[in-house]
Amino acid sequence: MASLPWKNDSNCFLLPQTNQLKVLLTIIRNRDTSRGDFVFYSDRIIRLLVEEALNHLPVVEKSINTPMGIEFPGVTFQGRICGVSIMRAGESMEQGLRHVCTGVRIGKVLIQRDEDTALPKLYYSKLPEDISERWVLLLDPMLATGGSAASTIDLLLKANVPEDRILFINLICCPEGIEYITTRFPKIKIITAEVDQGMDDHKFIVPGLGDFGDRYFGTK
Ligand code: URA
Repeated sequence: MASLPWKNDSNCFLLPQTNQLKVLLTIIRNRDTSRGDFVFYSDRIIRLLVEEALNHLPVVEKSINTPMGIEFPGVTFQGRICGVSIMRAGESMEQGLRHVCTGVRIGKVLIQRDEDTALPKLYYSKLPEDISERWVLLLDPMLATGGSAASTIDLLLKANVPEDRILFINLICCPEGIEYITTRFPKIKIITAEVDQGMDDHKFIVPGLGDFGDRYFGTK
């Protein structure tokens, strides 16, 4: 997996840019893609991202016995994981995580822009009680300004999650968002499928895919 040459930052990881991934991204970017296909193909990319995130978890030796009666020197994950989704769009990634990690605990955070201050405001959070002992897969499909993600990461750090145990997974991000998150939280890993050019005046990623939550949940 390529590490992005982002100002010598090695903590932003891009999925291998295979033809398959390019096809999947083209489908979800297309404004003419139906909602059903948008969900189906987004889910496929989410699955690839979750699988890649698991590659970043440490393992320890574990010896097992095969049905052949032979001891095999295998490995197992060192720690446990949980997901934290940033509502609403991040909830779209929960199923993909559950498909790969059965029974995984998933916390939720609702952060919205305060109309008066224009700053991200925390409205709701519910995190697993033992989150400080887990690796956290932070779920949000689009990394634009990074404002909501940064507020969520602040919350995780306050809950005593070590910064280097947070893996932030998104489908599409932009240089501004990467810069903001990796500068504020240099130990966090970002795992993404594509880095776009930037943002428009409304803070939407361009070329992007529009509003991910609306397209995934069919609210527009
Ligand atoms: N959220 C979205 O859904 N799309 C963007 O382009 C940026 C943030």
